[in-house]
This record gives sequence, C-alpha cells and structure tokens, in this order.
Amino acid sequence: MKQDTAAKTMITTAVVFMGFALAFGLLVALKYIYPNIGNIEYLSAPRMRMWHTNSILYGWLLPAQMGILLYVIPRILHTKLFSETLGVVTGLIYFGSIIAGLIGILLGNVKNIEYGEIGSPYDYLVILSWVLFGINIIATILKRKVKYLYVSVWYALGSVIWTFFVMVTGHIFTQMVAGVNQANLNWFYVHNVVGLIFTPLGVAGAYYLIPKELNTPIYSHKLSMIGFWVISFVYVWTGAHHMMAGPSPDWLETVASVFSFSLLIPVIAVITNFLGTFATASKQNRFKGPVTKFLMGGTIYYLLTCIQGPMQAIPALNVIISKNDWIVGHAHMALLGAFSFFAIAGVYYVIPKIAGRPLYNTKLADQSFWIMLIASVPFFSSLFISGVIQGNMWLDPENTFVQTLMVTKKWHVIRALSGAFIIYAYSLFVHIVIMTLIGKGDMNQEITEEVSS
Ligand code: HEM
Ligand SMILES: [Fe+2]
Repeated sequence: MKQDTAAKTMITTAVVFMGFALAFGLLVALKYIYPNIGNIEYLSAPRMRMWHTNSILYGWLLPAQMGILLYVIPRILHTKLFSETLGVVTGLIYFGSIIAGLIGILLGNVKNIEYGEIGSPYDYLVILSWVLFGINIIATILKRKVKYLYVSVWYALGSVIWTFFVMVTGHIFTQMVAGVNQANLNWFYVHNVVGLIFTPLGVAGAYYLIPKELNTPIYSHKLSMIGFWVISFVYVWTGAHHMMAGPSPDWLETVASVFSFSLLIPVIAVITNFLGTFATASKQNRFKGPVTKFLMGGTIYYLLTCIQGPMQAIPALNVIISKNDWIVGHAHMALLGAFSFFAIAGVYYVIPKIAGRPLYNTKLADQSFWIMLIASVPFFSSLFISGVIQGNMWLDPENTFVQTLMVTKKWHVIRALSGAFIIYAYSLFVHIVIMTLIGKGDMNQEITEEVSS
C-alpha cells in the first residue's frame, strides 16, 4: 500500500466528521435558546449532546491526532510505518465502531459514563482498534533507524500505553462497580481522556511541528523530558477534583486538589519550551502561514486552560464554578482552543505533504484561523460568565435549574452565534483540505517536499 495511506485515511475522515459533530453542537446550543427546535424523540437534547461530544472527541480529535502521528512518527524515526495496511484496517474498525456506537446512542444503547456513552460491543471495538494502532506505533519504533527517541516519540509511546488503561477503565471497569466508586472511576476516565489521551497526543504533534515549521531546534530537550515524566506521574491522581463537595471521601478530594496544583510543573515545562522555540525562530518564519498561527493560538489556549485547571481545584472557587457552564467553557478551551488548534495545524501541515502539492490557498487558511480565533473568545467567555451566574444562583437551593437558564439566556445566544462563526471557519478548513487533496494547487506558494523513506 502507498506510503501515508493510513495517515490520509484517518485525517480526511476526521476532518469530515468534524463538520457533522459541530452541527450537532450548534443544534444543542440552539435548544438552550429555543427548547422546541427539533422537537422529536431522536433529536432530544441529551441524545444530541452525546452525539456532539462523542463525535467531536472520537470522530474528529482522536483520529486526527492518530493520523498526524502516523505521518510524523516514521519521519522522526527515519523509517517507514510498520504497516500501512494495518493502519487502514485500524481506521476502518475504529470509524465503523464510532458510527455504529453513535447510531446505538440514538436507539438507546447508552452507558451511564460521561464521554464513554458508546455502548457495547462498539466500545470494545474502539479499544481493539487502539491496540492495533499501538502495535503499529511500537513496531515502527522497534524498526527505527535512529538511536535516540525524540520527545514526540516518548509522548506517543506513553499515550499508546496510557490510553489503553484509560479506555479499559472507562468502558469496562466502570461497569463492574456502582455508586460513588463508579462516579470516581468515571471522573478518572473523563479527566484522563483529556490529560492522558488528548494532551500527550497533541503535545507530541506540536513538539514535532513547531521546530519543523519554524525551522529551528526545540528550545530545551531537558525541559521536554522533565515535562514528560512529571505528566506521567501526576495526571492520574487528579480526576476526583470533579467530585469536590460531593459524596467522595475528603482525603481523596484533598489529594486531587494537591496533585491538580502540581500539574503546573509539566505545563510550565511544555509552554516554556514551545514559546522559547517561537522566540528563537527568525521573525519571518514565526507567523508565516496557517500552521504556525494555529500552533501559536493552541499554545496560548493551552497555557490559559492549564492556569484555569489548578485554580478550579481550589475548594472555595470550585463551589462556584463546578458542574455548570463554566466547566463546559473550560472543556471547549482545552479541546477546541488548545488541542483542536494543534490538530488543525497538523492537518494543514500534513495534507500538502501527502498530496504532494502546496496548500490550496494559504490566505484562506489564514482567514480560517482568524475567524476561529476571534469567534472562540466570546464562545468561551460567554460560558464562563454564564457559569459564574449559575454557580452563584445555586448557592441558594430555592433557585431551580430552569430559573438559571432564563437568567443566562443572553449568554447562550452569544455562545450559539459565536459557535456558528466557528462552523463557518470550519467550512473554509474542510474546503481547503479537500481542494488540496484533489489537486487544485495555489500557484503563489511553494513548499519544499520532504519525504524520507
Ligand atoms: C472542535 C470543536 C469542539 C469541541 C472539541 C467540543 C467539545 C465539547 C465537549 C468536550 C463537551 C462536553 C463538555 C462537558 O464536559 O460538559 C461539549 C459540549 C457542548 N458543546 Fe462542544 N465542542 C466543540 C465545538 C462546539 C461548537 C462550535 C458548539 C456550538 C455551536 C458547541 C456546543 C456545545 C454544547 C451546546 C455542549 C453541551 C453543553 C451542555 O451540556 O450544557 N461545541 N463540547
Ligand atoms: Fe479534570
């Protein structure tokens, strides 16, 4: 099979899936303003929320990151991917089970696990496809032609192992326990989907793309290793910060709060490294096209999210901002602002290389960045403001959920409007990716092809 077929399959399917997922996000956002929109059973708000979250996380973000790594890891290791055929088969099983799982959600085959709602047997198939992906990555590392492992490879390897345990915990172990224990495992799962799946995969990609696109070495290899090892020790302890002021034991909440704070160490290491590399790059390379812009935007949002995270674990603040719109804002800043920006940068970088021609239109791609960036500010802020209003109202048990919805309505209007602009930016993104693949090259721009074998 032709080189990079696996990467191309994962990435293009993910990009198309993103549109599908965003449309359902907008539908739910509109239901907050006009509750009667799409008033039929199958389009009910809970179903559509699960469609949005599961398809954006597992239809867009994860496969996009997997596809980018399938391209990047062989380049770093100066070898070919272990098996393109295995990669494509993995993609087919993976997307097949996500699509079947989503249809299952409509029909009521749902697990009571947030972010893990996809029912059996499709959840097992997702785990299986992850194992196949892991085999491909590990086998490529084993047949590498270089001695030392660059930090992206460490993160990819860590993620291959961690993701397996995170998925098994979320999809299988949670089904063996009940009550507080189940909630604890559920939040271990939710938090680690972000921290031990999307973070290492996103950071792995960015650690390759930033120096490559800016044409300068990474700022500090030592710092990158410190960041990696601290993340691997600290992250698993923090999930219980989602259950503060809930029925879990006090000691567990204290441990979660303390470890949440220690997350600042790896974050500072990663951010210093990324911004340090930007600072040492030549001025004309620094913001020369859509890839660097999305990388820079993602880095800033990663920093903001990770300052927010530990603060949210302070008990006095947690009472106000937990379990309401604030957390939805936090989740979007992390998964849209930081990791989807990194993933979009990766797609804009990889697709021209795979297609063997320049990006269809760099100016339009720059525009997709600016629209998405500008729209993301009111999108996140409206949710933060609405969350603080809700949190304060809930301090008085007399206030009902519906009352809080009425008070926060104008913020939900802003969220839906800015969401529509994000979807517009996405339509430019998908257009550029498709045009680049089918061969409508922009003649104004030249890229240097780099294909190592
Ligand atoms: C790459 C882009 C996006 C990503 C990665 C993403 C991710 C997520 C995640 C993880 C959640 C669950 C939050 C939680 O933990 O409670 C969520 C919920 C939601 N998202 Fe998105 N989202 C994206 C774009 C959008 C857009 C463009 C819109 C609106 C137009 C939107 C509207 C919503 C709504 C309405 C919810 C439900 C919130 C609730 O239950 O109150 N999302 N999204
Ligand atoms: Fe968390």
